[in-house]
Amino acid sequence: MGDKQKRPPDGTLDAWAYDYVLGSTLLGKLEPPAPPEDRALAPASRPLRLEAPGRPPELEVRSVGVRARRGGLRGEKARARLVHAFHHHELQAAELMCWALLAFPEAPAAFREGLVRIALDEVRHMGFYREHLTALGYSVGDFPVRDWFWERVPRVTSPAAFVAVMGMGFEGGNLDHAARFTERFRDVGDDLGARVQEQVGREEIAHVRFAVRWFEEFTGKADFETWARHLPAPLSPMVMRGKPVQRELRLRAGMSEDFVEEMVQWQPAPGS
Ligand SMILES: [Fe+2]
Ligand SMILES: [Fe+2]
Repeated sequence: MGDKQKRPPDGTLDAWAYDYVLGSTLLGKLEPPAPPEDRALAPASRPLRLEAPGRPPELEVRSVGVRARRGGLRGEKARARLVHAFHHHELQAAELMCWALLAFPEAPAAFREGLVRIALDEVRHMGFYREHLTALGYSVGDFPVRDWFWERVPRVTSPAAFVAVMGMGFEGGNLDHAARFTERFRDVGDDLGARVQEQVGREEIAHVRFAVRWFEEFTGKADFETWARHLPAPLSPMVMRGKPVQRELRLRAGMSEDFVEEMVQWQPAPGS
Protein backbone atom coordinates (compact mmCIF):
# COMPACT_ATOMS: atom_id res chain seq x y z
CA MET A 1 0.00 0.00 0.00
CA GLY A 2 2.80 2.49 0.62
CA ASP A 3 0.35 4.98 2.17
CA LYS A 4 1.75 4.36 5.60
CA GLN A 5 5.04 6.04 4.69
CA LYS A 6 3.17 9.05 3.49
CA ARG A 7 1.55 9.89 6.80
CA PRO A 8 1.91 13.67 7.27
CA PRO A 9 3.92 14.94 10.26
CA ASP A 10 2.39 14.53 13.70
CA GLY A 11 0.35 17.42 15.01
CA THR A 12 -0.62 18.78 11.59
CA LEU A 13 -4.13 19.09 10.23
CA ASP A 14 -3.10 16.75 7.43
CA ALA A 15 -2.16 14.03 9.92
CA TRP A 16 -5.51 14.45 11.62
CA ALA A 17 -7.35 14.11 8.30
CA TYR A 18 -5.18 11.15 7.28
CA ASP A 19 -5.89 9.34 10.54
CA TYR A 20 -9.61 9.95 10.20
CA VAL A 21 -9.79 8.49 6.70
CA LEU A 22 -7.56 5.49 7.30
CA GLY A 23 -8.52 4.78 10.91
CA SER A 24 -10.10 1.39 11.41
CA THR A 25 -11.76 1.60 14.81
CA LEU A 26 -15.43 2.40 15.23
CA LEU A 27 -14.66 4.81 18.07
CA GLY A 28 -12.19 6.69 15.88
CA LYS A 29 -14.88 7.16 13.21
CA LEU A 30 -17.64 8.18 15.63
CA GLU A 31 -15.63 10.30 18.06
CA PRO A 32 -12.43 11.51 16.41
CA PRO A 33 -10.03 13.63 18.46
CA ALA A 34 -10.34 17.41 18.00
CA PRO A 35 -8.29 18.72 15.06
CA PRO A 36 -5.14 20.67 15.96
CA GLU A 37 -5.66 24.32 16.94
CA ASP A 38 -3.17 25.58 14.43
CA ARG A 39 -4.95 24.57 11.27
CA ALA A 40 -2.67 26.46 8.94
CA LEU A 41 0.36 24.46 10.04
CA ALA A 42 2.40 22.92 7.25
CA PRO A 43 0.02 21.79 4.51
CA ALA A 44 1.76 19.05 2.53
CA SER A 45 3.73 20.12 -0.50
CA ARG A 46 2.33 17.27 -2.59
CA PRO A 47 -1.16 15.89 -3.12
CA LEU A 48 -1.94 12.68 -1.29
CA ARG A 49 -4.83 10.82 -2.89
CA LEU A 50 -6.02 8.13 -0.54
CA GLU A 51 -7.76 5.37 -2.45
CA ALA A 52 -10.01 3.86 0.17
CA PRO A 53 -11.05 4.51 3.76
CA GLY A 54 -10.25 2.35 6.76
CA ARG A 55 -13.25 0.30 7.87
CA PRO A 56 -13.77 -1.02 11.38
CA PRO A 57 -14.50 -4.75 11.66
CA GLU A 58 -18.01 -3.91 12.91
CA LEU A 59 -18.95 -2.58 9.47
CA GLU A 60 -19.65 -5.12 6.78
CA VAL A 61 -18.99 -3.44 3.43
CA ARG A 62 -21.00 -4.66 0.45
CA SER A 63 -21.13 -3.62 -3.16
CA VAL A 64 -24.90 -3.24 -3.21
CA GLY A 65 -26.80 -0.78 -1.06
CA VAL A 66 -30.18 -0.46 0.56
CA ARG A 67 -33.05 1.39 -1.00
CA ALA A 68 -36.03 2.87 0.70
CA ARG A 69 -39.15 1.21 -0.58
CA ARG A 70 -42.15 3.40 -1.07
CA GLY A 71 -44.48 3.13 1.86
CA GLY A 72 -42.00 0.83 3.50
CA LEU A 73 -41.15 2.90 6.54
CA ARG A 74 -43.88 1.73 8.91
CA GLY A 75 -41.75 -0.98 10.42
CA GLU A 76 -38.97 -0.04 12.82
CA LYS A 77 -36.51 -2.34 11.13
CA ALA A 78 -37.10 -0.73 7.72
CA ARG A 79 -36.57 2.70 9.24
CA ALA A 80 -33.46 1.55 11.10
CA ARG A 81 -32.01 0.14 7.88
CA LEU A 82 -32.52 3.47 6.16
CA VAL A 83 -31.15 5.50 9.07
CA HIS A 84 -28.12 3.20 9.15
CA ALA A 85 -27.53 4.01 5.46
CA PHE A 86 -27.85 7.75 6.19
CA HIS A 87 -25.34 7.38 9.01
CA HIS A 88 -22.95 5.80 6.54
CA HIS A 89 -23.49 8.66 4.07
CA GLU A 90 -22.42 11.08 6.78
CA LEU A 91 -19.36 9.01 7.62
CA GLN A 92 -18.30 8.98 3.97
CA ALA A 93 -18.94 12.74 3.71
CA ALA A 94 -16.73 13.39 6.76
CA GLU A 95 -14.01 11.16 5.32
CA LEU A 96 -14.21 12.69 1.86
CA MET A 97 -13.83 16.22 3.26
CA CYS A 98 -10.61 14.94 4.86
CA TRP A 99 -9.71 13.22 1.59
CA ALA A 100 -10.00 16.56 -0.25
CA LEU A 101 -7.84 18.28 2.33
CA LEU A 102 -5.06 15.82 1.52
CA ALA A 103 -5.69 15.68 -2.24
CA PHE A 104 -5.58 19.46 -2.75
CA PRO A 105 -2.89 20.85 -0.45
CA GLU A 106 -2.47 23.89 -2.69
CA ALA A 107 -6.05 25.08 -2.06
CA PRO A 108 -6.50 28.30 -0.06
CA ALA A 109 -6.27 28.05 3.74
CA ALA A 110 -9.85 29.28 4.11
CA PHE A 111 -11.04 26.44 1.88
CA ARG A 112 -9.13 23.87 3.95
CA GLU A 113 -10.54 25.40 7.11
CA GLY A 114 -14.05 25.03 5.67
CA LEU A 115 -13.49 21.37 4.80
CA VAL A 116 -12.56 20.65 8.41
CA ARG A 117 -15.56 22.54 9.75
CA ILE A 118 -17.86 20.57 7.46
CA ALA A 119 -16.19 17.25 8.33
CA LEU A 120 -16.93 17.97 11.99
CA ASP A 121 -20.56 18.80 11.14
CA GLU A 122 -20.88 15.44 9.39
CA VAL A 123 -19.49 13.68 12.45
CA ARG A 124 -22.13 15.49 14.51
CA HIS A 125 -24.82 14.41 12.05
CA MET A 126 -23.68 10.83 12.54
CA GLY A 127 -24.45 11.36 16.23
CA PHE A 128 -28.03 12.45 15.42
CA TYR A 129 -28.56 9.36 13.32
CA ARG A 130 -27.18 7.11 16.04
CA GLU A 131 -29.60 8.65 18.50
CA HIS A 132 -32.43 7.78 16.15
CA LEU A 133 -31.00 4.31 15.50
CA THR A 134 -30.80 3.66 19.24
CA ALA A 135 -34.39 4.81 19.71
CA LEU A 136 -35.40 2.24 17.09
CA GLY A 137 -33.52 -0.46 18.98
CA TYR A 138 -30.53 -0.81 16.64
CA SER A 139 -26.90 0.23 16.50
CA VAL A 140 -24.09 0.86 14.04
CA GLY A 141 -23.01 -2.38 12.42
CA ASP A 142 -26.47 -4.00 12.50
CA PHE A 143 -26.78 -3.65 8.70
CA PRO A 144 -24.25 -3.90 5.87
CA VAL A 145 -22.97 -0.68 4.32
CA ARG A 146 -21.92 0.43 0.87
CA ASP A 147 -19.15 2.92 0.12
CA TRP A 148 -21.11 4.47 -2.74
CA PHE A 149 -19.61 7.95 -2.43
CA TRP A 150 -16.09 6.59 -2.11
CA GLU A 151 -16.63 4.70 -5.37
CA ARG A 152 -17.31 8.01 -7.13
CA VAL A 153 -16.03 11.19 -5.52
CA PRO A 154 -12.25 10.45 -5.65
CA ARG A 155 -12.40 10.57 -9.46
CA VAL A 156 -12.30 14.36 -9.22
CA THR A 157 -8.99 15.99 -10.07
CA SER A 158 -9.46 19.56 -8.82
CA PRO A 159 -10.95 21.39 -5.85
CA ALA A 160 -13.54 22.86 -8.27
CA ALA A 161 -14.66 19.39 -9.32
CA PHE A 162 -14.69 18.27 -5.70
CA VAL A 163 -17.13 20.98 -4.61
CA ALA A 164 -19.13 20.44 -7.82
CA VAL A 165 -19.65 16.76 -7.05
CA MET A 166 -19.75 16.68 -3.28
CA GLY A 167 -21.23 20.02 -2.24
CA MET A 168 -23.34 21.28 -5.13
CA GLY A 169 -24.09 17.74 -6.32
CA PHE A 170 -24.63 15.27 -3.50
CA GLU A 171 -25.17 17.66 -0.59
CA GLY A 172 -27.41 19.72 -2.90
CA GLY A 173 -29.44 16.60 -3.62
CA ASN A 174 -29.58 15.93 0.08
CA LEU A 175 -31.56 19.15 0.56
CA ASP A 176 -34.28 17.56 -1.57
CA HIS A 177 -33.99 14.14 0.07
CA ALA A 178 -34.01 15.43 3.66
CA ALA A 179 -37.19 17.41 3.01
CA ARG A 180 -38.89 14.35 1.55
CA PHE A 181 -37.79 12.06 4.37
CA THR A 182 -38.85 14.58 7.00
CA GLU A 183 -42.38 14.12 5.66
CA ARG A 184 -42.09 10.38 5.34
CA PHE A 185 -40.94 9.94 8.93
CA ARG A 186 -43.66 12.30 10.10
CA ASP A 187 -46.25 10.34 8.11
CA VAL A 188 -45.45 7.16 10.01
CA GLY A 189 -45.44 8.98 13.37
CA ASP A 190 -41.66 8.91 13.85
CA ASP A 191 -41.17 12.41 15.26
CA LEU A 192 -37.56 11.92 16.28
CA GLY A 193 -36.78 10.74 12.76
CA ALA A 194 -38.55 13.76 11.27
CA ARG A 195 -36.70 16.16 13.58
CA VAL A 196 -33.33 14.65 12.70
CA GLN A 197 -34.03 14.92 8.98
CA GLU A 198 -35.14 18.49 9.42
CA GLN A 199 -32.08 19.53 11.40
CA VAL A 200 -29.59 17.76 9.14
CA GLY A 201 -31.32 19.26 6.09
CA ARG A 202 -31.16 22.74 7.60
CA GLU A 203 -27.47 22.40 8.43
CA GLU A 204 -26.64 21.07 4.98
CA ILE A 205 -27.69 24.40 3.45
CA ALA A 206 -24.41 25.92 4.70
CA HIS A 207 -22.43 23.04 3.19
CA VAL A 208 -24.00 23.62 -0.21
CA ARG A 209 -23.41 27.37 0.13
CA PHE A 210 -19.74 26.68 0.88
CA ALA A 211 -19.51 24.63 -2.32
CA VAL A 212 -21.29 27.21 -4.50
CA ARG A 213 -19.10 30.02 -3.18
CA TRP A 214 -15.85 28.13 -3.77
CA PHE A 215 -16.93 26.77 -7.13
CA GLU A 216 -17.49 30.35 -8.25
CA GLU A 217 -14.13 31.37 -6.80
CA PHE A 218 -12.32 28.53 -8.58
CA THR A 219 -14.05 28.73 -11.98
CA GLY A 220 -15.27 32.32 -12.18
CA LYS A 221 -18.94 31.31 -12.41
CA ALA A 222 -21.47 28.98 -10.86
CA ASP A 223 -23.90 28.43 -13.72
CA PHE A 224 -25.38 25.02 -14.51
CA GLU A 225 -23.37 24.37 -17.65
CA THR A 226 -20.00 25.07 -16.01
CA TRP A 227 -21.05 22.93 -13.06
CA ALA A 228 -22.20 19.98 -15.20
CA ARG A 229 -18.88 20.08 -17.09
CA HIS A 230 -17.04 19.52 -13.80
CA LEU A 231 -18.78 16.21 -13.02
CA PRO A 232 -16.48 13.30 -13.88
CA ALA A 233 -18.18 10.61 -16.02
CA PRO A 234 -20.38 8.71 -15.50
CA LEU A 235 -21.79 11.04 -12.86
CA SER A 236 -24.66 13.17 -14.04
CA PRO A 237 -27.13 15.61 -12.48
CA MET A 238 -29.58 12.68 -12.36
CA VAL A 239 -28.14 11.35 -9.10
CA MET A 240 -27.87 14.84 -7.62
CA ARG A 241 -31.48 15.81 -7.28
CA GLY A 242 -34.46 14.47 -5.37
CA LYS A 243 -38.15 14.59 -6.09
CA PRO A 244 -39.32 17.22 -5.79
CA VAL A 245 -36.35 19.57 -6.12
CA GLN A 246 -36.48 21.99 -3.17
CA ARG A 247 -36.16 25.24 -5.06
CA GLU A 248 -36.39 27.47 -2.00
CA LEU A 249 -33.70 25.59 -0.04
CA ARG A 250 -31.37 25.54 -3.02
CA LEU A 251 -31.80 29.27 -3.55
CA ARG A 252 -31.00 29.80 0.11
CA ALA A 253 -27.85 27.75 -0.44
CA GLY A 254 -26.71 30.29 -3.03
CA MET A 255 -27.67 28.54 -6.26
CA SER A 256 -29.10 30.96 -8.85
CA GLU A 257 -32.70 30.78 -10.08
CA ASP A 258 -31.42 29.69 -13.49
CA PHE A 259 -29.26 26.97 -11.97
CA VAL A 260 -32.16 25.53 -10.01
CA GLU A 261 -34.48 25.69 -13.00
CA GLU A 262 -31.97 23.86 -15.20
CA MET A 263 -31.49 21.29 -12.45
CA VAL A 264 -35.24 20.64 -12.44
CA GLN A 265 -35.45 20.46 -16.23
CA TRP A 266 -32.29 18.44 -16.88
CA GLN A 267 -32.74 15.22 -18.86
CA PRO A 268 -30.07 12.78 -20.06
CA ALA A 269 -29.24 13.06 -23.75
CA PRO A 270 -31.21 10.49 -25.81
CA GLY A 271 -29.27 7.27 -26.16
CA SER A 272 -26.88 8.02 -23.30
FE1 LIG B 1 -24.29 15.87 6.92
FE1 LIG C 1 -22.86 17.97 4.50
